[in-house]
Amino acid sequence: TKDWNGIEQVVLRSPQGASARVSLHGGQVISWRNDRGEELLFTSSKAILKSPKAMRGGISICFPQFANCGSTELHGFARNRIWAIEDNPPPLPPNNNPTGKSFIDLLLKPTEEDLKCWPHGFEFRLRVCLASDGNLVLISRIRNINGKPFSFSFAYHTHLSVSDISEVRIEGLETLDYLDNLCQRKRFTEQGDAITFESEVDRVYVRSPQCVAVLDHEKKRTYVMRKQGLPDTVVWNPWEKKSKTMTDFGDEEYKQMVCVDGAAIEKNISLKPGEEWTGSIELVAVPSSFCTDE
Ligand code: BG6
Repeated sequence: TKDWNGIEQVVLRSPQGASARVSLHGGQVISWRNDRGEELLFTSSKAILKSPKAMRGGISICFPQFANCGSTELHGFARNRIWAIEDNPPPLPPNNNPTGKSFIDLLLKPTEEDLKCWPHGFEFRLRVCLASDGNLVLISRIRNINGKPFSFSFAYHTHLSVSDISEVRIEGLETLDYLDNLCQRKRFTEQGDAITFESEVDRVYVRSPQCVAVLDHEKKRTYVMRKQGLPDTVVWNPWEKKSKTMTDFGDEEYKQMVCVDGAAIEKNISLKPGEEWTGSIELVAVPSSFCTDE
């Protein structure tokens, strides 16, 4: 199918009726529904669906940088480019190769313009996979096809749909250090039992466990995010004041979303010529809560 800019979208379906919709604009996952047809990702009613900006919501790819501490646009250019469908990508590593599932392979290479602000040749392969049980898996592979090393930061900027942010708890990040984006990335240590929300939160939890759970009491739903190759976890909710400054976000919508991003931010990933990096997340939405770390 196509969106109203004529940009192609791909719909993945599971045999039980779950679905995921992926836009070639940014390689962004713009919808993920369970087998009851319930939407699991947040999309703003004010989202701007026009190129070149990423749509507010879903899962967007932040690369080659998270935030705006480098030379490219905010959260990098990957989410603002048109990706290509790749029919026969090189095989995935065996430990990261979900088979027998509904998936799409996308490819991004830098344009001449991209190379002016970030002069590094790369191939970025993204597989978006909907498992038969409805789980959503995103696998990114970034290869250095340059003669020189380069480094980057990365995040799967994931907007989860929740019923009421005041009732949400995040488990798995207790006692960890975090960099607070609201205080020039100053380092603090998490003191609480679980993360709850009563004001703006914008943090990078460093060296976080592979598995984090987001409990939505009102909906009686738990999201579990498992990550590989991604040391950090971002937690973001803009709360009331910041929401009002965002043109593509409703004033009250902060209540219905939380961003939990599998990420590599504290330390850049470095790739030598010819080297490849893999980073993946798996998202599960379950009616009850459980989460075990490996
Ligand atoms: C979060 C960042 O992940 O994304 C925030 O930690 C940022 O600092 C937010 O404001 C939204 O970014 P964007 O570019 O999608 O508006």
